[in-house]
Amino acid sequence: MSASREPIGVIGTGYVGLVTAAGFAELGSDVWCIDIDAEKIDRLNGGEIPIYEPGLAELVAKHRRRLHFSTDIGDALEHARLLFVAVGTPPTYSGDADLSAVHAVVDSMPPSDRHALVMKSTVPVGTGASIKRTFAERGKDGFRYVSCPEFLKEGSAIADFLSPDRVVVGDDGDWAGDAVVELYRPLGAPLVRTDIASSEMVKLAANAFLATKISFINEIANVCEVTGATVTEVARGIGLDDRIGPKFLQAGIGFGGSCFPKDVNALKQLAGNSGYHFQLLNSVIEVNELQKRRVIGKLQKHLGGLVGKRVALLGLAFKPNTDDMREASSLVLAARLQADGAKVGAYDPVAEEEARKLIRGIDFAPGPLDCVRDADAVVLVTEWDEFVALDWAEVAGEMAGTVVIDGRNALDPDVIRAAGLTYEGVGRS
Ligand code: UDX
Repeated sequence: MSASREPIGVIGTGYVGLVTAAGFAELGSDVWCIDIDAEKIDRLNGGEIPIYEPGLAELVAKHRRRLHFSTDIGDALEHARLLFVAVGTPPTYSGDADLSAVHAVVDSMPPSDRHALVMKSTVPVGTGASIKRTFAERGKDGFRYVSCPEFLKEGSAIADFLSPDRVVVGDDGDWAGDAVVELYRPLGAPLVRTDIASSEMVKLAANAFLATKISFINEIANVCEVTGATVTEVARGIGLDDRIGPKFLQAGIGFGGSCFPKDVNALKQLAGNSGYHFQLLNSVIEVNELQKRRVIGKLQKHLGGLVGKRVALLGLAFKPNTDDMREASSLVLAARLQADGAKVGAYDPVAEEEARKLIRGIDFAPGPLDCVRDADAVVLVTEWDEFVALDWAEVAGEMAGTVVIDGRNALDPDVIRAAGLTYEGVGRS
């Protein structure tokens, strides 16, 4: 890529910020990465990547000379016109998004005719309009604003950045929107250039739709269990319909992560605050909560009461290839099992450190075989490849009981049964 690419600033060096910075560095931009956390900036300057994302450390190392880490927003303002905002917008107790970090960024902007904020963080529809009003009230109406939501999946974020399904740019049709479009041009992705509010809604609607797809297939799975159908076959059959598509039709023990639960709730809340009752999303959320708990019923069916029973959880992260524990199904599952008197053991290849901050009173095992030793039942919670590849005869030899609950339909039932174990998946009769 040419060295004459537009330099940019990225405010917030969390997951989205770092991937965005490394991605644009790969495309040839110099990137000034700003964070208020001095310790984090020190670590980044020392070449340490504070999050687990395949390929990220390598990409940051490759572009070490183009990536500049600082706590001083002045560095970004001096070198770049476009300031990508990638700060956290976690849910509040009311389910609304907490925009305090976004507001802190807005407040720290000086009056300027040559800068623009480019919002990557997921924000409620109307946030862009409100920020523009704030700028105008403070005599900073020269500051431009662009909405450019991210659609990165943890575990494949670098690939998602470099080969996006689409790029969405919501703006007022001025230089800032043009410049953002130009930055993404080398990726050759379909472009949706639209107004700011529509762009903000695209992000919330996309995640809400995907979450709906998962809750839908999970309910189909639950009906399969009582009717004798097999959900994986049903998903195959409906997924070949072009209008439905095969992705996001894997039944399991519910969706988690930093986006789906938060964004579905935020959209429900946004609608509610505007006087509209978003009935469908209420169901999507409720189905997901119940889905995490259905494992308990399955264990009780096989083991009777759970008091004193040893249950081994294979995997804790909300999905494989990440150490992210936010809204992971394992959190609810571990707590429910403990509440029912079970002794819970767990193993996750990378999420143990994060899990220890959130789950108390369970035994963390150093490996999968230590985890299943003497267990009455094993629950596959996160479908890491290494669990699928386990020697299940060896697992059977370690266990005290025979029950295997496959919470992600990732295992081959024949292999499990051949090992002398009792298999139960989700919607697989
Ligand atoms: C998601 C969106 O995909 C991404 O576009 C957005 O920017 C952020 O949120 P991510 O949270 O990384 O990305 O995870 P994703 O891979 O989409 O999975 C989310 C959850 O849904 C996981 O818990 C996963 O196990 C679950 N899931 C996914 C299913 O249960 N079934 C499926 O078929 C797909």
